[in-house]
Amino acid sequence: MHAPALPDTLGATSAWPALTGIAYGGDYTPEQWPREVWEEDVALMRDAGVNLVSIGIFAWALLEVSEGEFDFDWLDDVIDLLHRNGISVDLGTPTASPPAWFFAQHPDARAVTRDGVPLGFGARGMASHSAPAYREAAVRIATELARRYGHHPAVVLWHVHNEYGVPVGEDYSAHSVREWRRWLQERYETLDALNAAWGTAFWGQHYGEWEHIGAPATAPSVVNPAQRLDFARFTDHQLRSCFIAERDAIRAHSDRPITTNFMANQHNGCDLWAWAREVDIVSDDHYLWAADEEGEIGLAIAADLTRSVGRGAPWILMEHSTSAVNWQPRNVAKRPGEMARNSLSHFGRGADGILFFQWRASRSGAEKFHSAMLPHAGTTSRVWREVVDLGAKLRALAEVRGSHVPAEVAVLWDFESFWAQDLEWRPSEDVSHAERIRAFYEKLWRDQITVNFALPGHDLSRYKLVIAPAQYMLSAADAENLNRYVEGGGTLVVSFFSAVVDEHDAVHAGGFAAPLEPSLGLRVEEHLPLRAGDVAGIVFDETPYPADTWQEDLVLTTAEVRATYDGGPAAGGPAVTRNTHGDGVGWYLSTRPDAAGLAAVLDAAYADAGISPSGLPAGVEAVRRITDEAEYLIAINHGTETVSLQTSGFDLLTQEEARGTLVLSAGDVAVIRTQRTAEGGGR
Ligand code: GAL
Repeated sequence: MHAPALPDTLGATSAWPALTGIAYGGDYTPEQWPREVWEEDVALMRDAGVNLVSIGIFAWALLEVSEGEFDFDWLDDVIDLLHRNGISVDLGTPTASPPAWFFAQHPDARAVTRDGVPLGFGARGMASHSAPAYREAAVRIATELARRYGHHPAVVLWHVHNEYGVPVGEDYSAHSVREWRRWLQERYETLDALNAAWGTAFWGQHYGEWEHIGAPATAPSVVNPAQRLDFARFTDHQLRSCFIAERDAIRAHSDRPITTNFMANQHNGCDLWAWAREVDIVSDDHYLWAADEEGEIGLAIAADLTRSVGRGAPWILMEHSTSAVNWQPRNVAKRPGEMARNSLSHFGRGADGILFFQWRASRSGAEKFHSAMLPHAGTTSRVWREVVDLGAKLRALAEVRGSHVPAEVAVLWDFESFWAQDLEWRPSEDVSHAERIRAFYEKLWRDQITVNFALPGHDLSRYKLVIAPAQYMLSAADAENLNRYVEGGGTLVVSFFSAVVDEHDAVHAGGFAAPLEPSLGLRVEEHLPLRAGDVAGIVFDETPYPADTWQEDLVLTTAEVRATYDGGPAAGGPAVTRNTHGDGVGWYLSTRPDAAGLAAVLDAAYADAGISPSGLPAGVEAVRRITDEAEYLIAINHGTETVSLQTSGFDLLTQEEARGTLVLSAGDVAVIRTQRTAEGGGR
């Protein structure tokens, strides 16, 4: 009998590359090495179980040696060598780093900074996203590659560009300004509409001619925030249209899936909700933030966000590191077992490909201190042994491929709102969307409740609980969507400094948070940011908790008070409220309580939503992936003690049966398969 479908996943599928099992490998740069090394590379790739490598990503100068003159001989040899050895290719288009000849011939195509500095050659980074010469050159090299390799049996995936928007996103060149005006004309049609949307009556910025509108370059004071927000939207649009142009050029000659590597939560410049609709497969690069002592939580956010923008379809971890990351302030090395835990956490959260930057450590150049699958120290190193071991583990997990990750909770993640919130002259520089999302997510992570991220306009009815930790910008339509969600029986938790402005960064008529009044049963009369270091507590269910950064004067209409301020400018006033609306509940937190205070409030919201924490020992990460027939529990012990989990099933990694109890040593990972039944769920 068939188990029920997958009600609580987003359930999307993607065109997966023709590969057996989980994809394993990394960026491969044979162009940096003499040919003898290539033979050794492929032999070692086989030893490690590598089945996919990304090549050509930064090789434009060696593929198109001068404008229109191509040298593909070396790439033919590399691809054939890999193919003979059973290793598939994720073929890059090298457009993230145009050659020296390109910039020499097209100096006007250089991107220009906000301060008017044209960016020079000698590093990497694309040209102006709006320069016709760059667009033409990018499509030309993508077309030539697709013509030549579009049907090559080794090429199973296309890797367009590299991390759009990094390191060059916003561009203030003349080409960009020209396209910006065109984009604005399409968006607003009339100058009256633009003047209204940007609120140009303020500081006398009214425009009477399209030609007078510039990019929001450095100016004597703070530039119009609505203009800057639109410029961020324009930049995202231009970068995406560069991707689309290359994608379509490839598609004309190849039927293989096409991706480009995102940087989920590590680069905010691209609206990945929109980007994910344009790729065949979502892929992401994630670099553990070494200064974060619980980097696994940031990693989980990245992985959950990547899966969510792809509507739940399996995705590829295109890059992460085996150990040190050279661009961080301190190249903190990963400790034994950490690389496998990181990899399997991504896998547990839906990644069906685990790849690294990079295969072999580079001897020269800016990234020689970056770790690799094959480190400078070679095959006698611990890192290499762990790479070989990880390859074996992933082979044992092949059957999990294509399964989905269920989630009952959504956390709102809105890139456009972040762009707006990050502009100047906000009420307190201590308020950060990244910090708030991390705080709420961290509580859910500690309870091992799996999260999807979502936009406020999404259909949220599948979720028992929706959390808005940082939704500064909220359109009236999206607010209505949230109100409908609550009315229909959902539980919504909103944190302070949310629903403040509309999509033009204009304060909502009726005051801060007015559009959410039906759900929250209150109005925010005044923001009361605190001085740096000031702590003013709240009392929730008779327990005091410290809180800092922010308070508000709230005027309650239908909400009940659940916590009051015991100090600070709002002393005695409501700090946390709960409101019933239709069949659901809206919670509001008007301050930043410490982790225990936040946990207490969220526990109460869980009770409204009918969800419960997993009750696992601290430091154990547990995620589930499901198919119609099977459920896989991926359990990772990040702690320093051995723990026991109550579970039965077959451990795919040890090939042993767990009967009631699973003992997981410090640092260990288990992947336990159980059968799903028609009654629902694994056992
Ligand atoms: C990535 C980039 C790679 C490499 C890596 C090093 O962001 O895509 O090319 O530079 O960082 O961590």
